Amino acid sequence: QLYDFGMIGLGVMGRNFLLNVADDGFGALGTDINRESVDALNEEGKDMRVKGVYTQQEFVSLLSRPRKIMMLVPAGKIVDNVIEGLLPLLDEGDILIDGGNSHYDDTNRRYEYLKTKNIRFLGTGVSGGAKGARLGPSIMPGGDRSAWEEVKPILETVAAKVNGEPCVTYIGESSSGHYVKMVHNGIEYGLMQLIAEAYDVLKRVGGMGNDEMSALFSRWNDGRLNSYLIEITAAILKFRDEQTDSHLLDVILDKAKQKGTGKWTSQSAMDIGVPIPTIDSAVTMRAISAFKEYRQDNSKLYTVVHPDEVLLKGEGLANAVEESLYFGFVVCYAQGMHMLAEASEEMNYNLDLEGIARIWRGGCIIRAGLLETIRSAYGKREGLKNMMATIEFREDLHACRDSLAEVLHQANERGVPSMCLSSALQYFEAFRSERLPLNLVQAQRDYFGSHTYERLDQKGIFHSKWDSPTVHEK
Ligand code: 6PG
Repeated sequence: QLYDFGMIGLGVMGRNFLLNVADDGFGALGTDINRESVDALNEEGKDMRVKGVYTQQEFVSLLSRPRKIMMLVPAGKIVDNVIEGLLPLLDEGDILIDGGNSHYDDTNRRYEYLKTKNIRFLGTGVSGGAKGARLGPSIMPGGDRSAWEEVKPILETVAAKVNGEPCVTYIGESSSGHYVKMVHNGIEYGLMQLIAEAYDVLKRVGGMGNDEMSALFSRWNDGRLNSYLIEITAAILKFRDEQTDSHLLDVILDKAKQKGTGKWTSQSAMDIGVPIPTIDSAVTMRAISAFKEYRQDNSKLYTVVHPDEVLLKGEGLANAVEESLYFGFVVCYAQGMHMLAEASEEMNYNLDLEGIARIWRGGCIIRAGLLETIRSAYGKREGLKNMMATIEFREDLHACRDSLAEVLHQANERGVPSMCLSSALQYFEAFRSERLPLNLVQAQRDYFGSHTYERLDQKGIFHSKWDSPTVHEK
């Protein structure tokens, strides 16, 4: 009997995704250039309709038509190599799904190329890590719509479910699936850094210990901050290292790595002119973290002045940090969603923002209770771009604002860096300022470069000879 679904790349993600497919009663077939990975799949799937094969020839011959093949291999050149190797073995109408974190430009190129070969391509974001792949990820497929219709029954069964709704939906044309996954990761970077800064404030301003913080994060996870990232933070904080019988977190090197999706989000946001400073700050903090030696040297040169009195303490500080974190979370999602709204027009993706919030509620790394509210905010308002001013968030942002300002004050007093939390507040302040000092920037541009300006009191485009006060209309 032929198999329903094929996987190329049997690393932990590919293997787990395939076992998940098989759990749901589909015949699942896998291959990998690494023989041990094939053997591992056969071993783990021995009581299921799962098979691992060593050659691509055997692989394609055992799949039902049109073939539905997912690739879960490292992003970049390897994806092109796999496609080239596979093309001579495929038939017209077969479906290729790239489930890795590919750059959307690559996905556009592959989508157009494969169209010329009559192969249907789906650039697909898959989120949830190894566990998500095994138990139900959030899946973001974009590209050929007819291919989506064919793989829909499998992907809907495999995906995580929230209230019975599968965390997968057709995202849109061409590279939209990978674009949405990229922004998902940008939000992921933002939330992670916000949480890290909250931890630092609790520790360095509040003097809290890891177990105390773990209990606090657990409590927060039962409230409006409920999310996967808060949940794992609580678990991480109390985790003990067997070797030393102390908290593992305390001995983990404070240099964060990155594979690039956060940076791509910032790059694309700059290209399309959407401000996402909280995500940018998270990318920047990863970059700063990498300069450990500089930080070590500078920490000796610039010693912090410790103010005598700690104004926010204990429960008061904990509550203020919770409010700050909630504010930061809302702003971070708002920036990501706004980016998607603008990209939807810029790239002709025609994105359904409500649908995206819906499929992010389960399975993925940024899943959070908040996404239910975000979903409903976008669901109620066609064309909504930035959710910050909606009634769903207005009161909370107002109520949390002063706590965040106070937390930042305390952090600044003690030299505790808080780039993401600060950027969240600054983004809010900038967006609620009717007037910004950018009139001066316009004047400066005109002064040194004759770049012209507009006026509040008259229509038209103006340029001044700044050394004589006469205004000339152009
Ligand atoms: C997911 C994650 C995943 C990502 C890792 C690592 O949604 O499951 O986003 O796709 O690869 O989180 O990303 P960085 O190495 O860039 O931190």
